[in-house]
Amino acid sequence: MRRPLVVGNWKMNGTCQSAVQLADAIVSGLPSECQVEVGVCPSYVFIPGVSERLAGSMVQLGGQNVADQDSGAFTGEVSAPMLKEFGCSLAIVGHSERRQVYGETDALIAARYQKAIEHGITPILCIGETLEEREAGDTFKVVDGQLQAVLGQAGIQSLGHAVIAYEPVWAIGTGRTATPEQAQEVHAHIRQQLVAQDPEVASNVRILYGGSVNADNASSLFSQEDIDGGLIGGASLKADSFLAIVQAAMENS
Ligand code: 13P
Repeated sequence: MRRPLVVGNWKMNGTCQSAVQLADAIVSGLPSECQVEVGVCPSYVFIPGVSERLAGSMVQLGGQNVADQDSGAFTGEVSAPMLKEFGCSLAIVGHSERRQVYGETDALIAARYQKAIEHGITPILCIGETLEEREAGDTFKVVDGQLQAVLGQAGIQSLGHAVIAYEPVWAIGTGRTATPEQAQEVHAHIRQQLVAQDPEVASNVRILYGGSVNADNASSLFSQEDIDGGLIGGASLKADSFLAIVQAAMENS
């Protein structure tokens, strides 16, 4: 049984005050018996404030990225030990905005992923195709390549300490969600590829869907067999919609 996970990726939004308020509203709005795991990834600078508010709650905290090094002359980077100091247990790696806007390569993403695991942080490895790649019929080839680039370095067993997020680039921030069938098809493909490498890892690893998930479409996505929760952007910035998405995951768990 895979326990669903719903993570809010707050991206570069809000203020210190609004981030703390959002954290408070999520903590107080969660049901006392919550069968799904919940996490939030605020901007780095809001992590200390949010961390204080999440203390003692079930809500996990994560970075939106993590350095491929422990410390040193790496201007602008934040390391896994630094994230851990503030209670982070998650880190997003390989988000399409990092790949596309900031040119992060598969090799760098693999190194970030390994650093997270080395320090006991669960990487949420994002993979997904662009619209052009989908229309060219290359979706499976692209996600397989992105996944293998990391597993080739870190090994299949690393997925015992990681989460995969399938985020089709064309569905991110566009309001154009993949249909539940489109998402399920890719999730099932990813899991099938992993079965060949290690059936147990394949059946245990959680594969989240991300891309315009909201309170209205979450349930139909989460009802799919190989969708184990979501990585939520825009709809995670309001407690009401994020909590409704968590509720949808609970109902489908
Ligand atoms: P949206 O939910 O805003 O489409 O963003 C998805 C995403 O990129 C989560 O990492």
